[in-house]
Amino acid sequence: MAQAKNKFGRLDAIFLNAGLMPNSMLSALKTDDWHQMVDVNIKGVLNGVAAVLPTFTAQKSGYVLATSSVAGLKAYPGGAVYGGTKWFLRDFMEVLRMESAMEGTNIRATTIYPAAINTELLDTISDQKTASNIRSLYDRYGISPERIARVVEFALDLPDDTVVNEFTVGPANQPW
Ligand SMILES: NC(=O)c1ccc[n+]([C@@H]2O[C@H](COP(=O)([O-])OP(=O)(O)OC[C@H]3O[C@@H](n4cnc5c(N)ncnc54)[C@H](OP(=O)(O)O)[C@@H]3O)[C@@H](O)[C@H]2O)c1
Repeated sequence: MAQAKNKFGRLDAIFLNAGLMPNSMLSALKTDDWHQMVDVNIKGVLNGVAAVLPTFTAQKSGYVLATSSVAGLKAYPGGAVYGGTKWFLRDFMEVLRMESAMEGTNIRATTIYPAAINTELLDTISDQKTASNIRSLYDRYGISPERIARVVEFALDLPDDTVVNEFTVGPANQPW
């Protein structure tokens, strides 16, 4: 944050996109994976928001974008913890938006819910069966991450008095 402010004089937006998805059945007891998902997918977002909030509040402007997932909208076997970290964002980002509106700080909040996007995300799955199931789904449906970049660009380009709170984005042919 300090580096960005030094270079550009102000801070306009933060995109909280880091995350991992080591899915597995709960009975596999991959507790290290569970904790890692909480640390990155939830605490990473909290740390990012805590880092920008003082500046955004003082500026009375700022934009927080975060990447949830369609797993944050629908439950599915193998995704209990990952999905939980992504459901968290729905509540957190909505309350961030509401509180900012109440406090007159003009902080915009947008949550993106992607479906299958071809990235390195599947490399984080340590459970082999889960990995091969999800990989075949991505081989069939996955689309380029550039599609998400276009949504982020669209959101950032909107006038300061306008926000789209949520985008659900994915392959047109994926029945997610
Ligand atoms: N791909 C999909 O189909 C899909 C669908 C729905 C939601 N999402 C979400 O989209 C977001 C981006 O994931 P992706 O698909 O682009 O996967 P990715 O290619 O694996 O990228 C994940 C990113 O998270 C970063 N990251 C992981 N652990 C980190 C840590 N401890 N500290 C800082 N950065 C960390 C990684 O940085 P390094 O490379 O430096 O480790 C990497 O840049 C995630 O939140 C994911 O849950 C993806």
